[in-house]
Amino acid sequence: MTDPLRLGIAGLGTVGIGVVKIVQCQANMLAARTGRPIEIVAVSARSRDKDRGVSLSNYAWETDPVALAKRDDIDVFVELMGGSDGPAKDATEAALAAGKDVVTANKALLALHGQPLAEAAEAAERVLRFEAAVAGGIPVIKALTEGLAGNAMDRVMGVMNGTCNYILTRMDSAGLTYQEAFDEADGLGYLEADPNLDVGGIDAAHKLTLLAAIAFGTKGDFDAIDLEGIGAITIEDIRRAGDMGYKIKLLGVAQMTGRGLEQRMSPCLVPASSPLGQLEGGTNMVVLEGDAVGQIVLRGAGAGEGPTASAVMSDICDIARGIRVPTFGRAATALDAAPPASAASPARYYLRMDLTDKPGALAKVATVLGEAGISIDRMRQYDHPGANAPVLIVTHKTARPALDAALADLPGTHVLASDPVALRIEDV
Ligand SMILES: NC(=O)c1ccc[n+]([C@@H]2O[C@H](COP(=O)([O-])OP(=O)(O)OC[C@H]3O[C@@H](n4cnc5c(N)ncnc54)[C@H](OP(=O)(O)O)[C@@H]3O)[C@@H](O)[C@H]2O)c1
Repeated sequence: MTDPLRLGIAGLGTVGIGVVKIVQCQANMLAARTGRPIEIVAVSARSRDKDRGVSLSNYAWETDPVALAKRDDIDVFVELMGGSDGPAKDATEAALAAGKDVVTANKALLALHGQPLAEAAEAAERVLRFEAAVAGGIPVIKALTEGLAGNAMDRVMGVMNGTCNYILTRMDSAGLTYQEAFDEADGLGYLEADPNLDVGGIDAAHKLTLLAAIAFGTKGDFDAIDLEGIGAITIEDIRRAGDMGYKIKLLGVAQMTGRGLEQRMSPCLVPASSPLGQLEGGTNMVVLEGDAVGQIVLRGAGAGEGPTASAVMSDICDIARGIRVPTFGRAATALDAAPPASAASPARYYLRMDLTDKPGALAKVATVLGEAGISIDRMRQYDHPGANAPVLIVTHKTARPALDAALADLPGTHVLASDPVALRIEDV
């Protein structure tokens, strides 16, 4: 057997300990599969005294992750601390400068600093890999960079934040309000320390940034994502969408069109019978569409110790085998600046509004939509015990600027009892 591959692991939390366990428990299998032993040499975390449920006594301890990253006796720096800046970024840069390969699970770091880090890796002739950063245990980075390398990609999309999908699923299945489902997710420990990373769509948008860069050969551009979280979704929206045969999902979509690269992360309606519509609870799903392969659907655990460590190990095993794939699937210096789309591609929209119960109210709404060039596919008015009449409209395909113009004009009709809700219906 050849020399061992020597790891330095910074971060011994959920994912870090998962990796330690696999390296310790599956040593023979890993060596057989990669042709060389994989060994942990040194580790780092904030607290040295914490009982982490595994033995770390054979590993050197570094208080400073940057010092760990530079150690002469490691080949691969495994960054599992998290955070887009601070120690994760400093240590990753230090590792590449010291000639180490780097494996990370850190989507925030890669989404915001992936381009300079990928260029630094290339300049140092090192690899920077991040399978675990997108959709946890689903091997989607490998699928895109390797399995689909012969395809021009048309569209990538997915439900990539399990916490949001859990909240929306519980609202649907148990009839909980948004706040009740949010509190339940919080009680189960599903939410990030800053919940807005989850429910504001930011975490999922970090992942979409990375998928779009690989799929379309563009520099990751997180700021170009049209971002909207799930906080405004009500149980009423979920029920009304269900009546029309749809489910509401926080869906990320990236597609290259004649208008440029469209990237959006927002609550969308998808057909209840589609794979995305049937996705329940905390599971993730990524849908990849290429010109040769057609559509591929990948589904699995998007988070947790085992699934995320499984993805980290995939990158480590590649390095042990000598497989060296560029960070974003092609040379970082060859990535084009993403041309942001001038407007989202036309789509059907779901509109929900409460109208004052006066004669002609509905006709006024229909007139405003018609004047904006929006035609109505379906309209439904619901029984109402109170003074206001709930109305649901599904439009034919329309351009978003036309919809925005209509939404701006609707208050002028003086028939709205509250702000209307508009959600895109995604063809999936
Ligand atoms: N958890 C998941 O399911 C999941 C899924 C996909 C991707 N990820 C990504 O994986 C990474 C790690 O996540 P996690 O859930 O394992 O986090 P975690 O449980 O909070 O663990 C973070 C670890 O980093 C250590 N750490 C933090 N700051 C440090 C510093 N300045 N110096 C040294 N060590 C430091 C902590 O030390 P102490 O233990 O001493 O506090 C802890 O061991 C993040 O980038 C996350 O986004 C996580």
